[in-house]
Amino acid sequence: MSGREFIHNPGPTNIPDRVLEAFRRPAVDFVDPSFVSLVESCFAELPTWFGGAAEVICYVAVGHGAWEGTIVNILEPGETLLLADAGLFSNRWGEMATNLGRRVESVECSMREAPDPEAIGALLAADTEHRIKAVFVCHTETSTGATADIRAIRAAIDAAAHPALYVVDGIASTGTETMHMADWGVDVVLAASQKGMMMPPGLSFCALSPRAVERCHEVDSPRGYWDWRPRMNGEYVYMRFGGTPPEQHMYALRAALDLVAEEGGMDAVVARHARLAQAVREAVGVWSEAGHMELNVLDPERRSNAVTCVRMDPDVDGETFLKVVRERFHVSVGGGMFELAGRAFRVGHLGDLNEPMIIGALGGIEMTFEVMGIPHGRGGVTAATEYLARHPV
Ligand SMILES: Cc1ncc(COP(=O)(O)O)c(C=O)c1O
Repeated sequence: MSGREFIHNPGPTNIPDRVLEAFRRPAVDFVDPSFVSLVESCFAELPTWFGGAAEVICYVAVGHGAWEGTIVNILEPGETLLLADAGLFSNRWGEMATNLGRRVESVECSMREAPDPEAIGALLAADTEHRIKAVFVCHTETSTGATADIRAIRAAIDAAAHPALYVVDGIASTGTETMHMADWGVDVVLAASQKGMMMPPGLSFCALSPRAVERCHEVDSPRGYWDWRPRMNGEYVYMRFGGTPPEQHMYALRAALDLVAEEGGMDAVVARHARLAQAVREAVGVWSEAGHMELNVLDPERRSNAVTCVRMDPDVDGETFLKVVRERFHVSVGGGMFELAGRAFRVGHLGDLNEPMIIGALGGIEMTFEVMGIPHGRGGVTAATEYLARHPV
């Protein structure tokens, strides 16, 4: 088929040409002053992506690396964390912590909801001995499309007067949801390059508050590659990365930071994501009128700007749907996960995207309903176009 593939997985996402071109660089001596200053310019600007970090750690790793790095730097083996277990990714994060010998207490919630701040607060209030050392929350749970209320959870931690560190997986929310980690009292925000950051997989980040920095110095257990401490010494560029700097990724990161700045900064980028996400929800709202599909997340306030999960009737063959939309219309969307496997699809709307790209993807999905005879309300794409036209930037 001619034309481009429409990548609407919730990661990896589209890579802008300028970012791709930035990779086409020969190797340089990594102590070359121009490379060192490029790296330092990235580290100087990265805190703004998270809303005021004291330090940003960069791993040459996928998001799982940032997960592990966070666990081993803020928790000793045997210490307890409280996990808001809201879907596949938060669940796997907890599993990793268990495998690394940390204790995990979970606040469960259904796959249709975001974590409940009150339930988190109640468990913290009951923990009068302060066994819980950290609260782990996925800002956007990519398997469900729900976005946690980060400030309400902070308020619940404060109401319980609990000293636990507050750790947020921002892997799907960085660049798609507002984050002011300094003002909101978040201690660690994790990110990965292949989502809202518009890069290929390969870099992951831990943005740290002063308390998180302090904590990693108190933790006594052995660490190697994942250790935050040597990486905070910006004097030697090699140590920032725990080894040879990922040179081409740094040029690409510089290009991504520039693109965000040119768009008007993080607030403008988040606002674009909010519009595009709402356009997708407008389409799904119309498709749902025939009674055979619906938005997964029940509370409209908690629907994410990064990914929309659509539940389908059990009699719809979800696997075939994914195959047809990809193979016939070249629109790639994510499948349902956990209890939604084979019964849902997830439209990623994050990263380097504009209106016609979203409308194109929705068109491919709507055509797939037609081709497969999946009953749906007529006019989903029209509703999305009308929404975008009536809500200019
Ligand atoms: C919210 C969230 N956390 C963590 C991960 C894991 O990231 P990675 O696949 O880069 O290891 C993902 C991946 O999609 C994710 O969506």
